[in-house]
Amino acid sequence: MVAQVVILLGPPGAGKGTQARRLSADLGVPHVATGDMFRANVEEGTELGRRAQEFMNTGRLVPDDLVTEMLFVRVDGVDCGDGFVLDGFPRTVGQADTLDRGMDGRWTSSVASLEVPDEALVERASGRLLCREDGNHIHHAIFSPPVTEGVCDQCGGALYRRDDDVPEVVAERLRVYREQTAPVIEHYAQNGRLLPVDGNQSPDDVHRALRETLGSSTVEGGK
Ligand code: AP5
Ligand code: MG
Repeated sequence: MVAQVVILLGPPGAGKGTQARRLSADLGVPHVATGDMFRANVEEGTELGRRAQEFMNTGRLVPDDLVTEMLFVRVDGVDCGDGFVLDGFPRTVGQADTLDRGMDGRWTSSVASLEVPDEALVERASGRLLCREDGNHIHHAIFSPPVTEGVCDQCGGALYRRDDDVPEVVAERLRVYREQTAPVIEHYAQNGRLLPVDGNQSPDDVHRALRETLGSSTVEGGK
């Protein structure tokens, strides 16, 4: 059987990371998030991190060649052989075309898009708290506050706010999303491959809706 990839699309703050983490646990496959990979590179002080940081801090997209090279090195890893959940990629039509070619009989994909109104996106990004130990541990000051202020519920790591979650950068990320990533949604919709999901409900309800939409062949076939 060809391995399945779940592609999770949606604007900044839509809940891609929150849901990708759950789906990856459901399916027993890795969660591959290009934003998390860049932040890890920034943290480690690599050349890739240095180049990506100037784009991330101003809300712009990192150039396609840097992103796609990093992504394909990652998904060529043996742990992705049985599939993976993709969060934050593709974000341009060029990236979508490269991904379609790169799948190349190795994987098939399901494409879900989280739909959330702009007001909720700004609220979500402005209250987000991430764990320094594991960027997959995502909290929110109002919607999912940690039990102890500043401390991750899952692992005890220190919580911090992302540099690009300040209001002016969030506004630019939304503008860039409309200009460069909305056409990717259109690309999949035109191919009849887009599965829209209402992301403007509680995380548990979004998770349920995603599982239903993705169907038993994808999600319930995993662990
Ligand atoms: P990336 O890290 O991918 O950021 P993003 O797409 O802007 O999305 P976010 O991570 O901000 O939001 P999310 O949808 O994951 O939401 P989350 O689950 O955290 O990319 C960052 C940057 O890296 C880009 O700007 C770009 O520069 C670069 N980059 C990355 N990939 C690239 C690519 N392919 N090409 C070029 N450049 C690239 O949730 C947000 C908050 O809301 C959390 O606090 C959470 O607790 C809360 N929340 C989640 N769900 C709900 C809910 N249902 N109800 C209430 N609150 C909720
Ligand atoms: Mg994210």
